[in-house]
Amino acid sequence: MFKIIGTGSYLPEKVMSNFDLEKLVDTTDEWIRERTGIQERRIAQDNQSNSDLAVNAAKNALSSANIKPQDVELLIVGTSTPDYAVPAVAPIIQHKLGCNNIPAFDINSVCSSFAYSLITAAGFLNSGFYNNCLVIGSDIYSRILNWHDRATCCIFGDGAGAVVITKDQSTKGILSHNYGAKGEDAELIKIPVGGSKYPAHFLHNNYKKEDFYFQMAGLDVYEFTIITVPRVINDLLIQANLTIFDIDWVILHQANIRIIESVSKKTKIPLEKFIVNIQKVGNTSSASIPIALDEAVKQGKIKRKDKLMMIGFGGGLSWGGLIIEW
Ligand code: COA
Repeated sequence: MFKIIGTGSYLPEKVMSNFDLEKLVDTTDEWIRERTGIQERRIAQDNQSNSDLAVNAAKNALSSANIKPQDVELLIVGTSTPDYAVPAVAPIIQHKLGCNNIPAFDINSVCSSFAYSLITAAGFLNSGFYNNCLVIGSDIYSRILNWHDRATCCIFGDGAGAVVITKDQSTKGILSHNYGAKGEDAELIKIPVGGSKYPAHFLHNNYKKEDFYFQMAGLDVYEFTIITVPRVINDLLIQANLTIFDIDWVILHQANIRIIESVSKKTKIPLEKFIVNIQKVGNTSSASIPIALDEAVKQGKIKRKDKLMMIGFGGGLSWGGLIIEW
């Protein structure tokens, strides 16, 4: 049993429009809008790191939950772009926030990281270990994109979102969850060089320049997604003993408007129930669900007792979904 008692988000100030991208790569505003739904995205300033974005989002979430940093007992950060390869970014965020000495760790399941983190945090609360937990999704993909690769650099943006969850007997909290990975396809989304298998300093490997950057087999991932997400929705509904008519809101990872439209069509959940902000922020990876959630809460869309479905998907290839009672 848990309740989300506060949400927050942060977007860097700098806006990069599709027209700005036209000056960088061989693309058009029309192509990006028609194929993805994206019009603009935010890009962090050079002096901002992932932890800075995350701290801003977390402060907003703590203030909306009306709790102090010292009241947080557990910090989980979903991210695939931590400040450093080592250590995790969570302890850095913990220190900047002043949640001193509490357990703080990262979960990296790429764009599913926030859903994985929320499910993990809920498990800790249900186990009775903690009462208040801060869950952040924060990513800064502008730093890992190949700005010469039009197939990826037009899609992503930077940002962070956060929620405060607390143990609560008055709501049911998670009604169902479903997360997993199809590891056989793990290499469809990757940064080939810079990990421990192919370290950047192994110069004898004569790496290609593009192998230092994020790569994605877009069409294969698209196909994985439009098959996987409707299946996950079906499983979540069965597990929660609900039908599509019981669901008030759906927040899918904001990867592509065509994915959202396809899922709506396949599952017969009306498009109006999907919370969509991809046009303004692009794909912010781990941050995409909590940013969209925060906006919907601030707009007064989501009300107490509403049933909200959230599903992340992406690298791994992974997925993570849950239905919660708000
Ligand atoms: N501008 C103009 N043309 C572009 C382009 C761009 N920004 N990006 C790709 N193209 C071109 C390709 O080069 C290709 O040209 P070709 O036919 O001459 O080879 C053509 O457009 C079609 O490419 P394709 O990759 O098939 O495009 P698409 O319609 O599948 O859209 C994605 C690409 C990435 C937007 C889409 O595949 C997608 O959303 N994939 C899933 C992403 C996802 O879910 N990720 C998970 C979380 S990160």
